[in-house]
Parts: sequence; C-alpha cells; structure tokens
Amino acid sequence: MSHQDQKPQIEYSQHDTTPSNIESQQTPASIKPTSTEHKTQEPAQRKGPESFDRHYSQIFAGRWPKLLESLQHEGIHQELGHPLCKSYYLDPSSAEAAGALDIRPGMRVLDMCAAPGGKSVAILHKFLSIYPEGAFNLTLNERSAARRSRLQRVITSSIPDWSRSTIRITSHDARKWGLHEQNTYDVILLDTPCSSERHLVQEPKTLSEWSPKRSARIALDAYAMLAAALTALRPGGILLYLTCALSPLENDGVIAKALQRRGSEFEILAPPELHGSELSKHGCLVLPDRAGGRGPLFAALLNKCVVR
Ligand SMILES: C[S@@+](CC[C@H](N)C(=O)[O-])C[C@H]1O[C@@H](n2cnc3c(N)ncnc32)[C@H](O)[C@@H]1O
Repeated sequence: MSHQDQKPQIEYSQHDTTPSNIESQQTPASIKPTSTEHKTQEPAQRKGPESFDRHYSQIFAGRWPKLLESLQHEGIHQELGHPLCKSYYLDPSSAEAAGALDIRPGMRVLDMCAAPGGKSVAILHKFLSIYPEGAFNLTLNERSAARRSRLQRVITSSIPDWSRSTIRITSHDARKWGLHEQNTYDVILLDTPCSSERHLVQEPKTLSEWSPKRSARIALDAYAMLAAALTALRPGGILLYLTCALSPLENDGVIAKALQRRGSEFEILAPPELHGSELSKHGCLVLPDRAGGRGPLFAALLNKCVVR
C-alpha cells in the first residue's frame, strides 16, 4: 500500500476551496456573501475576529471549533541540537519537512525565505548527521534586514564551526530571483510568508484588521515566489514549498496556479512523510487538532522536468 493510500485526506466544506485563478480573486468563492448579505453588510463587518471565524468555519465546517482551540494553545517545539552548539527549537513538523530533503555533498541549495533560520538549521544538522565530512553550498536569503541579522546569529550559534559547507546570506526580493539566476539550484526550499493563523489568533490587534483579502494578497506574492523558484531550479531539481497557513488559497491554490501556468515545466511528487499529516489536493497538511499540537504546516514537493 502506498503512502498516498494510507493517509487521511483533508476534507473541506462542500465548496471548492482551491481556486486555480487566485489572481482575480479577492474573496474565495466559498465565502462570497449572498447578494442580500452583500448589500446589508457594512465593510467594517467583513473585518476582524468575527469575519475570520466565519471565513474559516466555512472552509473547515464542523472541524473548525476544535481546530481553532488547538491554534490558541502554544505550539509544541522540538530541540535541534548539535554537540558544542546552541540548541534551536522549532515545530517538529517543520524540522521533519526540511529534514526530508535529500541533500548530498556538492549540491547547490537555496533557502529563499530563510529567517529566522529554523529550517536552515534543520537542513544543516541533517546533512552533518549523514555526511560529517561532507560539504554543500547553501544560500540563505532574507529580505528584511532585522530578520537577516537574526538569521546570521542563529546560523553562527547553531551550526558547528567545523562544518565545511559554504553558507552565503543574501538579501534579495524572492519574487524577482528568477531574473538573476536561472536553472541553478539542485534543491530549493520556499517557506513563504503566509497568513500564519496560529500567530494571528494570538494577536488581537492584527486579528482586528483581518479580512479575507489579506490571504488573497499573500497568495499572489507566494505565487510570484514559486514562479521565481521554478526558474532558479535546475532541470531535475527539487522544490519544497511550505507554509504555516490554513488558508487553501496559499496552499493548494498556489500550486494549482503554477500547474495552470507552468504545468509543463514540473511534476508534483508525493509530499514528505510527516507525522500526523493529511493529504490535500497537491500536497499534505499537518493540523494541530489531529497531529498532537504540531503545525499548521502545508508541504508540496515539485520536481522540475528535464528538457530532452
Ligand atoms: C515563514 S518566514 C520563514 C521562516 C524560516 N524559513 C524559518 O524556518 O525560520 C518567511 C520569511 O520571508 C521573508 N520575506 C517576506 N517577503 C520576502 C521577499 N519578497 N523576499 C525574501 N524574503 C521575504 C520574511 O521577512 C520572513 O522572514
């Protein structure tokens, strides 16, 4: 029996929550108010915690109350440790997903949105545990200067100084990466800025400003980054797309758009085996209500085709 057969499949409400055309979509079809609601509802009512609650209960239906409760708890953390280094703590599904990448000596690897650095540390520790004497080329990119400084500190304190791998830290806009480097990397990790609903429900100020448009905007940027990553990947290379979002627009929706626009350039592989994950249309999801507090995490694995 394959990995796909054994996994539970994520179930959303009856609406199709993975529209392929997220570009023109301000509000997912599933939560568009009926015409009478639309007329009577003031714009202010489409913002804030009630709107957030309504939006996600339409996506997750009866599952939403328990899922919301699990998001309100502090997430669980796994210690990434290496002798003589400071430990780094991150969500176990994030560590598992990054560690699932098969990185071998000599490869060129890009972590496109790297700060504060948890998944980069997971990649480096996994590599060192398999190839203590080996080396690869790792580019860590982060646009924000403040977060880049933190990334630098995390890498300096959590990676042993005898590691032979070459690490370069860059400051580019990930959406434009493909203009500068094409067909270059063996492996790309794209962990996009996302709705991060777990943080959102714990931040009343941000939640008070929330509206469904927010996720649609984030999904546009995520698609631009994914398109740039596909260009930067060498033929045969592997791209791991991750978010910590619940919003299907930012998860399967972004992959669906890539399939629609650039589907001849890549194939979708089976997602990484993650503890407690559920299969989605194009990847898998780890959700804290059914994964012992882990996640949220969405993962999709893409393979760039070799042109013959
Ligand atoms: C989800 S976080 C990455 C977390 C990181 N992978 C880790 O495991 O610690 C996304 C990061 O992308 C950065 N970012 C946002 N927009 C960006 C852009 N256009 N180009 C590059 N980085 C960007 C954010 O500042 C943020 O640090």
